[in-house]
Amino acid sequence: MKIIVTGGAGFIGSHTVVELIERGHTPIIIDDYRNSKPFILSRIEEITNTTVKSYNIDCCSFDKLDKVFKEEQPDGIIHFAAYKAVGESVNQPLKYYNNNLNSLTNILSLMQKHKVDNIVFSSSCTVYGTAEKIPVTEKTPRKPAESPYGNTKQVGEDILTDFFNSEHDKNISILRYFNPIGAHPSGLIGELPIGTPNNLVPYITQTAAGIRKELTVFGDDYTTKDGTCIRDYIHVVDLATAHIYAIEKIAKQSKQLDIYNVGVGIGTTVLEVVQTFEEVNNQKLNYIIGNRRAGDVVEIYSDNTKIVEELNWKPKYSLKDALRDAWNWQKKMQND
Ligand code: WQD
Repeated sequence: MKIIVTGGAGFIGSHTVVELIERGHTPIIIDDYRNSKPFILSRIEEITNTTVKSYNIDCCSFDKLDKVFKEEQPDGIIHFAAYKAVGESVNQPLKYYNNNLNSLTNILSLMQKHKVDNIVFSSSCTVYGTAEKIPVTEKTPRKPAESPYGNTKQVGEDILTDFFNSEHDKNISILRYFNPIGAHPSGLIGELPIGTPNNLVPYITQTAAGIRKELTVFGDDYTTKDGTCIRDYIHVVDLATAHIYAIEKIAKQSKQLDIYNVGVGIGTTVLEVVQTFEEVNNQKLNYIIGNRRAGDVVEIYSDNTKIVEELNWKPKYSLKDALRDAWNWQKKMQND
């Protein structure tokens, strides 16, 4: 299939482009590099030994996007392009609503106009908020969003559902990501945080590399086994693969709306991540225990039964693999 991948040079997007090529598909990247770097394209080509077509376009520019749809006539879209920093979204909500929602409505309008039937949408476990029961299934009720970023994911899901109900033939797969970490095992592509990382694993790798003085563990007085928060960390290549399975499934259907949790189904504490990183990479990490971070939920991890059963998808990589690959990527980046 020919598949437009918006945000295809980004962290999850670039890994998905690689997996698409490896499964015999033709990805077309749309990215304006505001949160990624053009060199990622040549890295994708190096890994896959192919050339990849790309357009430098903002998904909020309807007319430019229209031209790409007209030119490419894709079979489907995987839509990653969006802002994703929770804290920033609290201070600049309009930036988030404008970008994340306009790009989505543009893409859906163009799916109507050019008769493109399939879309996979990046959602997030943040839509569950503080869930009453852990692990969360896709039926666990969504809680009011805790940030404008989270709200763009909830509203994005709602827009897709309304669009689905109003159309005769559209297929939609909503993937609710847990915590993506790691990097491609080749060490050629990975996460490129701009400025100080907000997320745990890039902060750890930058601390180990000496770029940051120490990691602050945000609170050790939660009601968990070691007092630190619990998350479901998934290797980015496993997450990428889920997109391929998701679009391959819906492309065979007519009028289908799927929602899947994409996590490994294992809850891991912050201190377990730190210890595993130290162990697997033979690195001592400087860390201190600090205050709780506002907005953090104590514990969330997935019940991934639905995606395992319906898509026959299974995570291949462990937490150790992910932390080894993340460190390998960090080291390679510095040596390049
Ligand atoms: C993980 C754990 C922190 C940094 C966010 C989004 C979510 C999703 C993934 C994105 C928490 C702790 C972190 C640090 C720490 N989507 N931590 N010190 O908050 O679970 O999820 O990213 O696109 O929607 O909300 O991820 O990596 O920030 O934090 O102790 O310096 O690590 O408190 O328990 P989070 P995270």
